[in-house]
Amino acid sequence: MQIAPSILSADFGRLDEEIVAICQAGADLIHIDIMDGSFVPNITIGEVVVKAVAKISTKPLDIHIMVSNNDMFVDMFAPYSPRYLSFHIESEKHPLRLIQKLRKLGIKPSIAINPHTSIDTVKHIVPYVDMVLLMSVNPGFGGQEFISEVLNKAKELKQLINKKNPKCLIQMDGGINGKNIQQIKDSGVDIAVAGSYLFGGEYTRQIDSLR
Ligand code: DX5
Ligand code: ZN
Repeated sequence: MQIAPSILSADFGRLDEEIVAICQAGADLIHIDIMDGSFVPNITIGEVVVKAVAKISTKPLDIHIMVSNNDMFVDMFAPYSPRYLSFHIESEKHPLRLIQKLRKLGIKPSIAINPHTSIDTVKHIVPYVDMVLLMSVNPGFGGQEFISEVLNKAKELKQLINKKNPKCLIQMDGGINGKNIQQIKDSGVDIAVAGSYLFGGEYTRQIDSLR
């Protein structure tokens, strides 16, 4: 299991130290949640902070945009060369066009889906992406409760991936902790995003416990 700490739960008053510490503790990726106050009822961070994180992080960036205008935010963050950029199927009319744009920029495209959006909506997108992000909470905030129905979606998605694009990874995001991680692994998830669980304890111990 790869572990991607969501910095939304970090202490932003000393974000530099937090990034260094979570990288040293064994994070595989640094997950950055971008919210625009339109697609989700919260506003988080923009270019200034992403630029600072990119400078400090020794691990690849994993940017998750929860926004209405995907194109604008892709342009904004492309210069910081994230490994993955996940955008939501619910906010994009032309997902394949955006996927092609990300590929041209050298960024691995990933499609994100909300807890109650069906796997069917990404059936014809799976062949073109490197990752599918399954939200296991309603996007907008850290520290919410895990929606366990999403485990069934992960199993369904895994079958689809085996058929259509075996190299495609599954990422799960929201409410992940030491208690549900085993079920998450068993349902076929490759990358676990965790915010409040990781930043709420001693970082190395928390990451090791998930892994
Ligand atoms: C929710 C974000 C998540 C969130 C995870 O909209 O996409 O990445 O910060 O935080 P926890 O692990 O606290 O649910
Ligand atoms: Zn996220």
